[in-house]
Amino acid sequence: MSELSVNHLLGIKYVTKEDIDLIFETADHFKEVINRPIKKVPSLRDITIANLFFENSTRTRLSFELAEKRLSADVINFSAASSSVKKGETLIDTVNNILSMKVDMVVMRHPNPGAGVFLSRHVDASIVNAGDGAHEHPTQALLDSYSIREKLGEVQGKKVVIVGDILHSRVALSNIFALKLQGAEVKVCGPKTLIPKYIEKLGVVVETDLKKALEWCDVANMLRVQNERMEISYFPSTREYTQQFGVSKELLESLNKEIVIMHPGPINRGVEITSDVADSNQAIILDQVQNGVAVRMAVIYLLASKIKQ
Ligand code: CP
Repeated sequence: MSELSVNHLLGIKYVTKEDIDLIFETADHFKEVINRPIKKVPSLRDITIANLFFENSTRTRLSFELAEKRLSADVINFSAASSSVKKGETLIDTVNNILSMKVDMVVMRHPNPGAGVFLSRHVDASIVNAGDGAHEHPTQALLDSYSIREKLGEVQGKKVVIVGDILHSRVALSNIFALKLQGAEVKVCGPKTLIPKYIEKLGVVVETDLKKALEWCDVANMLRVQNERMEISYFPSTREYTQQFGVSKELLESLNKEIVIMHPGPINRGVEITSDVADSNQAIILDQVQNGVAVRMAVIYLLASKIKQ
């Protein structure tokens, strides 16, 4: 297969295993490119991309912008906080105004679940979801699987536990879809109050004992507690959360094997992960960030190839 089955990347729910394989093969090529002295290719000189961020971001926004620039696309950046959204302009009006400047692709982060799907039905551009509320974060899941593949050779058959605030996490949902598509076994672990009731229908197993989950897995993906999405308390205290669901060096050393530690960032050091674990050789957190550029180059390149047809 040489092209994606989709015209937008709205979620992992909408792509196939073949799409993921193609994105990873293309990312392998771009990873080699960005390790050259000249880190740029002219592939997308004729494409203009708008990065629309309606929610805060460090890694995703910079990674997309760098990926686009490495492909030689023209790039414009929009931050809702400093835009006319503050004067009451709607999402569709905002995007249509941006598209009238001859923009071909929109990368969007938005607090509302489904914002990317909604936009793809109402505007004439290729849409990439850079995170929509607690729904999906497809490029994060792709770079996570790509990093597992790089570290352990393949994703198929690997045992991955996703730990923490599953309820509010778009990273968890996209990772579950991506890992299951590739034949990994997936468990989720966290306080019962932060695990959605439907989760087992997605083919994952719930484990509330962190030590048991870590004994079982090859990879633990540690998630941040998303206090900004919570209107009530889901656990008694941060101290108690850390005691039950935080990963420390002592806990890792008590296991019978060495597991891989991942985190999508931003990290709350001392809450879900201690500093000595985050900075250890077991953690591939900065590899994930580095791989994000190559994976996003692949996604943008493959979607742009479909625009050009
Ligand atoms: N992983 C992630 O989405 O980080 P940012 O919120 O900084 O983009």
